[in-house]
Amino acid sequence: MEQLRIGVIGLGWRAGFTKYWHQPGGRSVVVAGADIRADRLEKFRERVNPEAYVTLDYRELLERSDIDAIVVTSPDHCHAEHAVAALQAGKHVYCEKPLSITVDGCDRILEAWRESGKQFMIGFNMRYMNMYRTMKEIIDSGDIGEVKAVWVRHFVGLGSDYYYHSWHGSSRNTTSLLLQKASHDIDIIHWLTGRYAAKVSAFGGVDYFGGDKPNDLTCPACAEKETCPEAKTGPLVQCAFREEVDVEDNSMVLMELEGGIKASYMQCQFTPDYERNYTIIGTRGRIENNEREQKVYLKSRISHTWRDLSDRVYDIKQAEGSHNGADPKICDDFVAMILDGKEPVAPPLAGRMSVAVGCAATESMRAGGMVVPVKPAELWMSGSSAPLLRT
Ligand SMILES: NC(=O)c1ccc[n+]([C@@H]2O[C@H](COP(=O)([O-])OP(=O)(O)OC[C@H]3O[C@@H](n4cnc5c(N)ncnc54)[C@H](O)[C@@H]3O)[C@@H](O)[C@H]2O)c1
Repeated sequence: MEQLRIGVIGLGWRAGFTKYWHQPGGRSVVVAGADIRADRLEKFRERVNPEAYVTLDYRELLERSDIDAIVVTSPDHCHAEHAVAALQAGKHVYCEKPLSITVDGCDRILEAWRESGKQFMIGFNMRYMNMYRTMKEIIDSGDIGEVKAVWVRHFVGLGSDYYYHSWHGSSRNTTSLLLQKASHDIDIIHWLTGRYAAKVSAFGGVDYFGGDKPNDLTCPACAEKETCPEAKTGPLVQCAFREEVDVEDNSMVLMELEGGIKASYMQCQFTPDYERNYTIIGTRGRIENNEREQKVYLKSRISHTWRDLSDRVYDIKQAEGSHNGADPKICDDFVAMILDGKEPVAPPLAGRMSVAVGCAATESMRAGGMVVPVKPAELWMSGSSAPLLRT
């Protein structure tokens, strides 16, 4: 095969990045798309390929022998159904994060992947951002010694735009936002440390969004649209203060990783600003990023005193393309995985483990903060070799 032919399931906001795969004359083309909404089909053609075959029934894509790979960009609760069906139909699969909204759903996808003999990639595009690649390289170089602690603060400014005006606000669609947004960060914690979390404890609440507004209320139809701080004109306009909203808008998770590494992850959806702040502390120093400045700061101990510090500052190179250039890179890697046999940066198991941590943390958070063990992969991986457990 010299050119990969791709079909896309779920043609909403995220499907826009599939344009990077559409390179007529190049190594991949996007030839088809499916969505349950007719308006999304035309939009997809406008955005990605005017000649794409489009359908309201995703199963039609799976039946076509001229489609080699399926990209799943449907809502989180549909991932397991769509990814498993695509693998069983003999397609390679790229599935957006979170892999599924339950550990069981993840395990069904991994099982289908193992049985299919096809290639599978989880959409962890943060691993392709220069900021986090830089941090990974510094850690791997040994400059901060052995990693012992990770602190992540995640300010999700515009949280209502992302999560509370749409399907994301209900746990039946997401389980919690510790799987949605946090699945990236939990994965980056696993990747940077090279270890998966083993147990967690968490606190959180629905402290700002949610409320007693009717579930069918939309911003344009609301009597308070002139005064409401979260009023929107589109495209996502469900009331952010509606009754069904039940996913925590601020949460704090403590984790113990394999090997005793400690990590914390804090997320808030009603802060004014958007920023991810990572601090990784090792036995010889620490690194911290600053997204506004696009820098990583390294402070290392060069002698055996705490006072004797050597500082280094890394300027992060800016890259072309969405998500700071990560999207075109992950698209290239998906094609290289299938056409050249290149190993993916994120193994499929990493998708499962970040969901397993998010589910355990959600359970803890909703039961008052008790310690919950992360469902180990060994249960699923019994009899398989250790390299499959890599982060
Ligand atoms: N990696 C990233 O950076 C990133 C960024 C944004 C979103 N995402 C992920 O992408 C996925 C989609 O998010 P989005 O923001 O585009 O959501 P969205 O609601 O804009 O789009 C989802 C689309 O799927 C369609 N759909 C729903 N049920 C379907 C079904 N049964 N069959 C076919 N289509 C169906 C919807 O009609 C909608 O058009 C989510 O899982 C999200 O987590 C990833």
